[in-house]
Amino acid sequence: MSAAPATQPLRFAVVGHPVAHSKSPGIHQRFAELTGLPTAYERVLAPLDGFAATVERLRAEGFAGCNVTVPFKFEAAALAPRRSQRVQLCGAANTLGFGMDGMWCDNTDGPGLVQDITVNAGVPLAGARVLLLGAGGAAAGVLGALLSQRPAALWVANRNAARAIELVATHADLASESGALIQGMGLDDVRLHRPDAAVDVLINATSASLADAGVPVGPQVLRPGTLALDMMYGPAALGFAHWAASHGAEPRDGLGMLVEQAAESFALWRGVRPPSATVLAELRHQLATT
Ligand code: ATR
Repeated sequence: MSAAPATQPLRFAVVGHPVAHSKSPGIHQRFAELTGLPTAYERVLAPLDGFAATVERLRAEGFAGCNVTVPFKFEAAALAPRRSQRVQLCGAANTLGFGMDGMWCDNTDGPGLVQDITVNAGVPLAGARVLLLGAGGAAAGVLGALLSQRPAALWVANRNAARAIELVATHADLASESGALIQGMGLDDVRLHRPDAAVDVLINATSASLADAGVPVGPQVLRPGTLALDMMYGPAALGFAHWAASHGAEPRDGLGMLVEQAAESFALWRGVRPPSATVLAELRHQLATT
């Protein structure tokens, strides 16, 4: 994962299906401008059955790496022979690098989320009580990074309880290292398992809002000031944000996580962490005025 020479223009892409909505090209363009590291970054639509062939083509065309988005993150992890510890833990990758010594992969979603919560929102995760909703790819990608912050307790609640329990089981070693109490459960069991108090940080990693299914948990998980973060952004995150604010919580969308995971990828590729807070502020301004 060695950094590239500082002045070399390098080509990157985000590969997904669909991918037209991706904001990554604009974010990486600003990182390039602000760091002075010339970067070409484009969207690449891969056929649903053609992810590996698409990555091969990018390598052959001289790309230095790519980001990977839905639905290819698990395939990306299986494709690269060199996997970071984070990828080994969650089985999904969002960053590929095409080094001289082979392809490597990493997952920057977790560090991006942690950076957004602890630095941008200024809410400590160490010692916090955290409730993570969901047990799909999005939740799996961030669980390890959340645990590494040593929260006091981390509950994972999912519509399908077995999936949450299984996800927690794969992180048992990390949980015992971090000293966090961790438990997987069904959404319906949240009240049963945690009758005592609301959480400090609530993270919605389900796709419920995309299906217009509302907030998948009751307001008893909130207290005044709880950070309630939805990994979605834009119109899809509005329902959750409104619900959180109406119960006295601090709503936050997934835009910060989006920019921070991009910054982590950029840092892995280029060896320099870009000024992500500047780019996040610009993006928020841009979205508010368009
Ligand atoms: P992603 O990669 O975005 O995480 P995924 O792996 O399909 O996508 O996972 C979607 C998550 O959203 C799952 O946790 C799913 O719950 P199930 O495992 O029970 O399917 C959750 N989800 C989707 N629709 C939901 C809804 N209407 N209510 C609650 N949870 C929902």
